[in-house]
Amino acid sequence: MGATRRRPSRAGPFDRVVQGDAKATLDGLPPSSVHLAITSPPYNLRIPYLGYADDLPPEAYLAWLRDVWRSLYRTLVPGGRFVLNVAPTSIKDFRPIHHDLSRDLREMGYIMRTEIIWYKQTMGRRTAWGSWRSPSNPHIVPSWEYVLVFCKEQWRLEGDRRRIDIGPREFEQFSDGFWTIPPERRRQGHPAPFPEALIERLVKFYSYRQNVVLDMFGGTGTVAAVARRLGRHYLHIDTSEEYCRLAAARIRAARPPSGCWIPAPAAGLPAPAPA
Ligand SMILES: C[S@@+](CC[C@H](N)C(=O)[O-])C[C@H]1O[C@@H](n2cnc3c(N)ncnc32)[C@H](O)[C@@H]1O
Repeated sequence: MGATRRRPSRAGPFDRVVQGDAKATLDGLPPSSVHLAITSPPYNLRIPYLGYADDLPPEAYLAWLRDVWRSLYRTLVPGGRFVLNVAPTSIKDFRPIHHDLSRDLREMGYIMRTEIIWYKQTMGRRTAWGSWRSPSNPHIVPSWEYVLVFCKEQWRLEGDRRRIDIGPREFEQFSDGFWTIPPERRRQGHPAPFPEALIERLVKFYSYRQNVVLDMFGGTGTVAAVARRLGRHYLHIDTSEEYCRLAAARIRAARPPSGCWIPAPAAGLPAPAPA
């Protein structure tokens, strides 16, 4: 009788969709277990997410996120990366929150490695000119977003060379820090999903196959779905039941590469108290 080939089991608390709070869930993860976190937090712009108000006073907003970044830091491996996508705020109520966030992260010990400009090519749909053809009050339209990249303790992420999946052309293309990628058009009922092309680049550029990739403000599950499709373990966290349901279906449909078993999502896990 031939030996039964067993699939490896899920990687601890990973390969899951967790409907829960970002900080509480991160606090329940083992230390030094995450290789790459990619996220886009709520921007405090009163965006209508399901079940989240997005309108804290500015200082309370930054303090809330500082707590989340601190909890994330503990879970990152040495050399683990944190990629933070931040959109410029609105033209009339412009606040440079990308400066506030990068200052906070550096002050708490993250090393800032770089800043990628994600150019969205949205000028065709512009509606705000300010003073048309006059220097009296012209507007610059935010046709880009920031992709800020940080790491923990060291620049280098150790890994098995056999688990690298980025090709030479891709490496050349992605290492140019100006990324032209259109915004996601299939919104699936969410106000601000990532385009998969953006996440594919980040996952291939900054992690090895079989690494753990998470998004603690996961929305519709773009990060987790792309991570699974590219053969990474994943964790999706969001407070909204509806977004988690959507994310689970998306992740399930994202088949990992052959020979690289990554389980389909299990239901959320309770967050145990950190050690
Ligand atoms: C900018 S969206 C992320 C969209 C995501 N990048 C995607 O591709 O769909 C921010 C998400 O944070 C979630 N959220 C708000 N407060 C949260 C909290 N305390 N913990 C976890 N998720 C939260 C919202 O439900 C929302 O889906």
